[in-house]
Amino acid sequence: MAGVSKVDFDWEKEVKEFDERKTGVKGLVDVGVTEIPRLFVHPQEVIDRYLTAKGAAVELPVIDLTGAESGGTRRREVVEAIGKAAREWGFFSIINHGVPLETMNAMLESIKRFHELPDEDKESLYTYERSKPVKWNSNLPVEEGDPACWRDVLNLHYTNDHLDPHEIPSACRKETEEYVKYMIQVRELMAELFSEALGLPSDHLSKMECMKNHAISCLYYPACPEPHKTLGAPKHSDIFCLTLLIQDSLGGLQMLHDNQWVNVPPVPGALIANFGDLMQLFSNGEFISVEHRVVSQLAGPRISVATFCTPNIRILGKPFGPIKELVSKDKPAVYRDFMFEEYFQYYKTKAARVESALEYYRIN
Ligand code: OGA
Ligand code: NI
Repeated sequence: MAGVSKVDFDWEKEVKEFDERKTGVKGLVDVGVTEIPRLFVHPQEVIDRYLTAKGAAVELPVIDLTGAESGGTRRREVVEAIGKAAREWGFFSIINHGVPLETMNAMLESIKRFHELPDEDKESLYTYERSKPVKWNSNLPVEEGDPACWRDVLNLHYTNDHLDPHEIPSACRKETEEYVKYMIQVRELMAELFSEALGLPSDHLSKMECMKNHAISCLYYPACPEPHKTLGAPKHSDIFCLTLLIQDSLGGLQMLHDNQWVNVPPVPGALIANFGDLMQLFSNGEFISVEHRVVSQLAGPRISVATFCTPNIRILGKPFGPIKELVSKDKPAVYRDFMFEEYFQYYKTKAARVESALEYYRIN
C-alpha cells in the first residue's frame, strides 16, 4: 500500500545514501561496518523458513558429457540421465564439459579483481539503467520496505551473442571473452540434449532460439559481519531457460529440495546447471525450475558467475508458450501463451519480490 511502510526506518533515505556512495556492499565492508545497515536486514522468519539440519548438503545428479556429442558413444545414456535430472531435480552438475579448469578459475579470479578495483576505477560503471549492456551495482530492491541483499554484481548483457569487448572492464575482459566461447559451446550441446530428452528432434530448441543468447551475472558476496540477519540472494527461481553456474570453494548456494533448504556444495571443475521458468513453460511443466538462494557468511568474499541462456532478441515479439509437440489430449497445456515483454515487465517492477511470474500463466 502506498505510503504505508513495512519497516520502521527511513527506507528511501537509506537506499538513496547507499546508492549515492557507489561503492556497493563491498564499500560497507571496506569501511569496517560491524553491524549491517537496517536496509539489509531480512525478516528472521524468511531466513529460517525451510531451514534444514545445519550442514545438510545434496549430491546433485552428475552428468558426464564424455561421449555425449552428436553420434557419440554415450549420447543416449546422457540424454536419459539429463531427462531424469531435469524432471526430478531441475538442478544437476556437469563434468567433462570441455571448459578447462584454468578458464573457469581465471574467470572467477578476474571477477574478484574487477570487484576489488579501487572505487574510483569502477565508479563510472555503477548504474541501474536497464539499457546499459555492462554495469555493476548491488541489485537494490525497488519496492519500498523490501530488504537489500549482501552482494554486488557486474552484469554483462549480450545481444545475439555479441558484446563489444571494449565495453567489458579490462580487469576481466580477456578472461570473459575466453569463458564465453565455452559457454556458447556448452549451451548449444545442452539445447540438443534437452530437445532429445523431451522426445523432440535434436535441433528443436536450437531452432526455437529460446536459449540462443546469454546474459552473465558476475557476483561478489562480501564477507558479512552478521550473516544470520541477511541473505546473499533471496529465494528465487531463474527466469530464463538455463543457468550455467561456476562458484568458488566457499559455498553458500542452497536449493529447495523436498521443501528444505539444502546446500549445493562446490565441486571443483563442475558446472552447475539449473532450469529457469521459461524452460518449465516450454517443456509444458516437464523440466522443473527450482527455487534457490544464497546465504551470507562470515567468510568472504565468495565469487560466482551465472550464465543465463536467454531467448534470442528476434523471438521476443512472438508469443511464448508450451511447445506444441508436447501438448496432447493426454497432456493438456499447463500454461497459456504470453508475450515475453509482458512476462519480463513483471521482473522489472518486482526486482526484489521474486515470486515466479509463471504462475500467472498457469491454466486452472
Ligand atoms: C543467480 C543465482 C547463485 C550463486 O544469479 O540467479 O542464483 O551461487 N546465483 O551466485
Ligand atoms: Ni538464480
